[in-house]
Amino acid sequence: MANAELHLMDHPLILHKITMLRNVETDTKDFRQLVTEISLLIGYEATRDLPLVDVEVETPLVKTTGKAIPKNVCLVPVLRAGLGMVDAMLSLLPAARVGHIGLYRDHETLHPVEYYCKMPLDVSERVCIILDPMLATGGSSVAAIDSLKRRGVKNIKLVNIIGAPCGVEAVHNAHPDVPIYLGCLDERLNENGYILPGLGDAGDRLYGTK
Ligand code: PRP
Ligand code: URA
Repeated sequence: MANAELHLMDHPLILHKITMLRNVETDTKDFRQLVTEISLLIGYEATRDLPLVDVEVETPLVKTTGKAIPKNVCLVPVLRAGLGMVDAMLSLLPAARVGHIGLYRDHETLHPVEYYCKMPLDVSERVCIILDPMLATGGSSVAAIDSLKRRGVKNIKLVNIIGAPCGVEAVHNAHPDVPIYLGCLDERLNENGYILPGLGDAGDRLYGTK
């Protein structure tokens, strides 16, 4: 597990909002809003070490040199549920490109099945930030990282809202170079591969499909 990094959030705002997100009484509209707010807060931490470049800027008084984030980030939401995190991340990184990856878990095997992938042509040159609210078995996040690495991407970060210990371990084992930014580490998976205590099916709760 050399170099594996887990950045576990401890900010009260994030923990408070995750509790609201878990609540079975939280409706679709509020669930979407909370996913946005939590993504913004975790996104703040996940972008903390982005490299900066010097840029010239003219204030009303003088010319000076400021710091800027190069336009080299690609957000990679894992469909469907990762889409709920995109708007928040784009508000932090408005110049980022967005590459989509479609993965679903086979209900029997829990193995991820890739059904869609569309990345920017220059994705291999970019810092890719994978967005998926749930890290359960870890199969989907590992598959998303595999897919980006096959396309030559070298700098990858993973952002999840709720994770299970086995999911974190699966990502660390398969991709020790990829840091994970996680809102909350839960106890375990149930027999159907759902995170406990968790929040249920993130896609269904975001889009009201159940
Ligand atoms: C959910 C979630 C993750 C995956 C996590 O997606 O959004 O992508 O499960 O589980 P894992 O860590 O065990 O792979 P799901 O397969 O339900 O697809 P959906 O978002 O299209 O409903
Ligand atoms: N996917 C979800 O949406 N929820 C879980 O608890 C596990 C996987």
